[in-house]
Amino acid sequence: MKNVLVVYFSQSGQLKEIADAITGPLEAMQDVDVSFYCIEMEKPFPFPWVKESFFDVFPESFLQIPAQIKPIPQEILDKKYDLVLFHYQVWFLSPSIPANSFLKSPQAKQLLQGVPVVTISGSRNMWFLAQEKIKALLKENGALLKGNIALVDRVGNLISVITIVEWMFSGKKEKHLGIFPLPGVSQKDIDESQKFGHTIGQALQSNHYDDLQEKLLAQDAVRVSPYLVAVDKKGNFIFSKWSAFIIKRTNTRKKWLKVFVVYLVLAIWVISPIVYILHLITYPFKINKIKKTVKYFKTVHSV
Ligand SMILES: Cc1cc2nc3c(=O)[nH]c(=O)nc-3n(C[C@H](O)[C@H](O)[C@H](O)COP(=O)(O)O)c2cc1C
Repeated sequence: MKNVLVVYFSQSGQLKEIADAITGPLEAMQDVDVSFYCIEMEKPFPFPWVKESFFDVFPESFLQIPAQIKPIPQEILDKKYDLVLFHYQVWFLSPSIPANSFLKSPQAKQLLQGVPVVTISGSRNMWFLAQEKIKALLKENGALLKGNIALVDRVGNLISVITIVEWMFSGKKEKHLGIFPLPGVSQKDIDESQKFGHTIGQALQSNHYDDLQEKLLAQDAVRVSPYLVAVDKKGNFIFSKWSAFIIKRTNTRKKWLKVFVVYLVLAIWVISPIVYILHLITYPFKINKIKKTVKYFKTVHSV
């Protein structure tokens, strides 16, 4: 019997749906036992969000400051796992606070030490550096990263900013905003992600994970846009300054968060189009570097 642990947290249910789709084929296997563990926070985050609380999680998300999670059920801790499917979402270019808090908990090491892990993210589209942060945390826990699947909203970057923010504030994924497309990972991509479950199942059965990521890539598990990677890198640089500044402003935090929001709106609507134009102009001169970047973010290796 092979034991598989599915770790997830989801506010809207999107990531749970993804987890269910991918896990389906594994659950159908006779000699596989699948356990689900939903990360639960001692102090839950609101959903739908209100503007103030949404931006209030920025400093702690970006600085990867963990919050208290509820104790992990003993029946989850008691088993030894052959494979862990770790699902996470991105908050402010970093692993969400629940994902980060779990990975920084002492129990994470107990569950992950020496265990093959497949990471699965369901984000807007900017997961590249968050995945690097996840890689570092997995390494600290002694986990063996063997595969990565990154599910995103495939519409244009600025369109998804509008639709996802509306979704986060209304709580309704199925609600159309005028002529805009539906927010988040498409239902088609969620439903089709069961294909990854078959591939992961084969690796589990044969206990051979060396070519798992290649097989997942052949199934379109990861798409890398060099432009989005460039925005992610610049965003991380800017967020590192803002988060370090705001976290120290205990008395004036609210006021500075408001300033940050104005800056963020400007950055998204003014700076990111400039980055896009610069990216297009410099593209022919950086083609080799860009190819390397794309290749790197498709793999599960670390620099
Ligand atoms: C506070 C917050 C910040 C977010 N920041 C990002 C981000 O930086 N990059 C990104 O691709 N998605 C971002 N998202 C979208 C999430 O990654 C995720 O797709 C969405 O919250 C749905 O996840 P759920 O399964 O928990 O409902 C953010 C969402 C929230 C709530």
